[in-house]
Amino acid sequence: MGKIVIAIDGYSGCGKSSTAKAVAKELGYTYIDSGAMYRAATLHFLDNYLAPSNPQDVSKGLKSLEIEFHPNPDTGKQETYLNGVNVESKIRSMRVSEKVSEIAKIKEIRKELVAQQQRLGKSKGVVMDGRDIGSVVFPDAELKIFMTADLETRAYRRQQEMLEKGDMIDLDDIQQNLAERDRIDSSRSESPLIQVEDAIEIDTSNLSFVEQVAQIVYLAKQKINPREDYASNHR
Ligand code: CDP
Ligand code: CDP
Repeated sequence: MGKIVIAIDGYSGCGKSSTAKAVAKELGYTYIDSGAMYRAATLHFLDNYLAPSNPQDVSKGLKSLEIEFHPNPDTGKQETYLNGVNVESKIRSMRVSEKVSEIAKIKEIRKELVAQQQRLGKSKGVVMDGRDIGSVVFPDAELKIFMTADLETRAYRRQQEMLEKGDMIDLDDIQQNLAERDRIDSSRSESPLIQVEDAIEIDTSNLSFVEQVAQIVYLAKQKINPREDYASNHR
């Protein structure tokens, strides 16, 4: 088999995006952060005082929304651009985290972003993480992963991640935000977060980062080249 599509879905903060990025790097694939697109759309609505509950605002917001990913010239890491402006740092703020699930509930917004995601992944060789990648964006993805981790672990990891960027956020606030987004994301009527039948569940609560990346790379290589004996290479 040639290049495949790897879909990684799951709850907020369980390690999807950092794992997906590392898996893509190891396989020489492109990583696409679908959550960053919903976050950029949220920033656009907030900055322009557009209400997701108002259909006119939604169509106005979508008409003036252009999201792109470009590598940082120094680090090589993909960064998110909104209408030509680098918003990588802004979209990770609590201001955006608190509103993003409300924006991601809206049918028209999902329709537009899903179409963009499908275009980005049409040549395969991609690892995309999100909430509906295996169920809606790429239902035929060759490898589907459903990631989980307990809420305390996720909140602690997210706090550490924000601390590294100089943002000191209360652990309870982070935990509440993660739990609230999980609730909205799992209960919305438009493509809710679900574990599809053909997804392989990986609970990262007690895994090291290196272990979870290795597990997915192993599964991916089995799909890419089913005849190779990968088990013997991993003994
Ligand atoms: O990284 P974190 O888990 O905090 O969230 P994210 O992946 O950046 O996604 C932010 C939000 O966007 C989620 O809580 C969902 O509301 C929404 N989202 C979605 O609805 N569908 C996706 N495919 C990706 C994200
Ligand atoms: O994308 P998602 O919201 O699911 O998670 P993330 O943005 O990748 O954040 C997970 C954080 O936990 C990152 O800082 C990872 O380095 C860290 N982490 C992990 O993902 N897995 C572990 N086993 C340990 C730490």
